[in-house]
Amino acid sequence: MVKRGSDSHFPQRAPLAASGLPRRREEARAKCESDPRFGGASDASSEGDVNLSPQRQAWQAAHVGLQSRALLDRDAEAFLHQSLSTPCLEALVAAEGIWLTDAQGRRYVDFHGNNVHQVGYRHPRVVAAVREALDTLPFSPRRFTNRYAVDLAERLRALAPDPLGKVLFAPGGTLAIGMALKLARVATGRHKTISLWDSFHGASLDAISVGGEAVFRKGIGPLLPGSEHAPPPDPRACAFGCGGRCSLRCADYVAYMLDKEEDVAAVIVETVRCTDVQVPPRDYYRILREACDRHGTLLVLDEVPIALGRTGRMFAFQHYDVVPDVVVLGKGLGGAVYPMAAVIARRDLDVAADGALGHYTHEKSSVGCAAALATLDVIADEALCERSARLGARALARLEALKARRALVGDVRGLGLLLGVELVRADGTPAREEAERVMYECLSRGLSFKVGQGNVLTLSPPLVIAEPDLDAALDVLDAALGVVDGSAAP
Ligand SMILES: Cc1ncc(COP(=O)(O)O)c(C=O)c1O
Repeated sequence: MVKRGSDSHFPQRAPLAASGLPRRREEARAKCESDPRFGGASDASSEGDVNLSPQRQAWQAAHVGLQSRALLDRDAEAFLHQSLSTPCLEALVAAEGIWLTDAQGRRYVDFHGNNVHQVGYRHPRVVAAVREALDTLPFSPRRFTNRYAVDLAERLRALAPDPLGKVLFAPGGTLAIGMALKLARVATGRHKTISLWDSFHGASLDAISVGGEAVFRKGIGPLLPGSEHAPPPDPRACAFGCGGRCSLRCADYVAYMLDKEEDVAAVIVETVRCTDVQVPPRDYYRILREACDRHGTLLVLDEVPIALGRTGRMFAFQHYDVVPDVVVLGKGLGGAVYPMAAVIARRDLDVAADGALGHYTHEKSSVGCAAALATLDVIADEALCERSARLGARALARLEALKARRALVGDVRGLGLLLGVELVRADGTPAREEAERVMYECLSRGLSFKVGQGNVLTLSPPLVIAEPDLDAALDVLDAALGVVDGSAAP
């Protein structure tokens, strides 16, 4: 059960079971603790660390001081609870460059950042651009356009390869995914989709319908009709038993589904699955592209967390020899300041002039577009795509070396500065509890990252990170792994 009160700076709190709501929380925690899949986590762990686990409680007991505790308690009182956010771990007071600072002055290098921080926090050019927009045009009602929005749309059209060339903005990746789904329906006159199990496309009802993670789908009731799913390219847990080397049967199966169904509007895929860094083989998208072309189905690639340099290219699909019909961007587009997302579609898909695909209040946000323009300037001027490719290759080589030394590391993989370290026990089962321990050990040592699919440490550093800082962070990870697998003294 929860360790409490032994630490002098951690105040004794009233028992939680006094009202209905806290009782539900206690029940959820009990379920968590008894769930063998994550040794105290639940299937919520597919998307990230959950807030009910005993390890979370232990970390907080050891690290959270009075000041944060008071704010965390107010947060827990005010917000609806969810397993992936409230109650929260700690309270933040500042973010700058690669660093987060918590309420007790502890600093963390942020290898998580929800993937908004390609250019780091408070990049001076982003801050200046946002200030300028705030001082001149803080909001742009939908009836009007503004120069920030038009400049950004033109910039994205220029960046995307032909035939991509028409743009829509949205205040969030989930909404942009919804717009892409609507566009596919309008353009094809069909409603069905094929997407992949274990993928994440956002948290709304339409996005979870095409998403494939149980934590978002279970207990929610009917989802969008026609949302069909295929097994993902995941060679270490392949539904077709490829045994670690992708045989592309998963891609052939999507083609087979399209042959059978014939009336599918869109195949929607995360180009590289972000939660656990699944990088499909080169031919995967050739097979999908050809099958979609045969059937008049749109290929929609979700690059919300990974476009704009994360993988070493502006768009992740540029690693493959394909161009999608629609690509969806988000997260880092807003420069770690503003919620900005975009759909870039084939020019000839401008087919909904008499309808509405988006129509969101902050659709052409002057402030958000100013942040995005400055972000794209920084990515170009600081050569962040090249930097991501170079530092990513270096980091991956270090992780390979770590795999040779640390028994828990079953696989390492990456593309640019999107890196995954999969932890596996000696008997081949996913090392979920150990992954969570490594994460908290790293947090204690000033490194923050996410754990995806329960046992993959997902490292997503700002692309502006200095090489010594990257090295130091990997040293922290190495030491933490040593503590958890027992091969190094704490
Ligand atoms: C692959 C992917 N698609 C879509 C989304 C949704 O983006 P947002 O949270 O900005 O709505 C996310 C968010 O994590 C994501 O990772």
